[in-house]
Amino acid sequence: MRGMMLAGGAGTRLFPLSQVSSKQLQAVYDKPMIYYPLATLMNAGIREIHLISSPADLPIFERVLGDGSQWGIELSYGVQPNPGGIAQAVLIGEEFVRDQPFTLILGDNVFHGQIGLDTEVAEFASGAVIWGYPVEDPERYGVVEIDNSGSVLSIEEKPNSPRSDLAVPGLYVYDGTAVSRAKELTPSERGELEITDLNMSFLADGELRAAKLSRDATWLDSGTHESLLESSNFVASVEKDQNYKVACLEEVAFKMGFVSAEDAARTISAMPLSPYRTYCERAILE
Ligand code: G1P
Repeated sequence: MRGMMLAGGAGTRLFPLSQVSSKQLQAVYDKPMIYYPLATLMNAGIREIHLISSPADLPIFERVLGDGSQWGIELSYGVQPNPGGIAQAVLIGEEFVRDQPFTLILGDNVFHGQIGLDTEVAEFASGAVIWGYPVEDPERYGVVEIDNSGSVLSIEEKPNSPRSDLAVPGLYVYDGTAVSRAKELTPSERGELEITDLNMSFLADGELRAAKLSRDATWLDSGTHESLLESSNFVASVEKDQNYKVACLEEVAFKMGFVSAEDAARTISAMPLSPYRTYCERAILE
């Protein structure tokens, strides 16, 4: 399966930080934010990945991530001229998707632990899969309502009166019909093609499934100053307690068998002397 990452948006909530770099290139503790969703896709075995961003930020992503060969993946890039919504990314990625199933992940979403994406990717047949994650402030997100048997009853974007406490994280698996469905959408009040409207199109046809995030999985949306700090604190604490790095792409690539030890050694030898390099040497080469 292919993967799409959306790293667009104006990032206005992060002003004045947003003047320095795009939201998805800000630091989440010791790595650029985009490393985390990229690691999530790679951990699910996804190796062909299309990253969509604004004309101003795309060259920086290309400089930071390159063509992905250092991690044994193929990275390609697509331009979103204006922040026209998450569902617009699906339209921009039409050529990349070519009617095949794909996973879409938002560049500001940090996942940790067993989220079950590997299983969903391996077993995916058709329709759409979303996740539900219990939060205290569901009105900030897409909200999904699920019955006792796990069927989706409703999905709403930032409702004033949420019907459940299950936020919909920025992780979606779609079949190839997503592109034609996205073409039917009209902009919302905030002038964007909403991903929730795309999900409602699948729901209307009985093709939307909600997967459960296991209890020990963590999801953090890092789009505000508070949540950015929370994500950094979370990653720092996991890395200190467990003595390993979250979303070390070189380690993920090696563990997934995308690169050999020799390939990894070559990549590591080109890194500047840094704690990150020392970690890679210890985790991969020793
Ligand atoms: C977007 C989606 C929302 C989803 C959230 C996850 O919200 O519209 O459904 O729950 O991402 O991060 P936005 O970040 O555009 O406010």
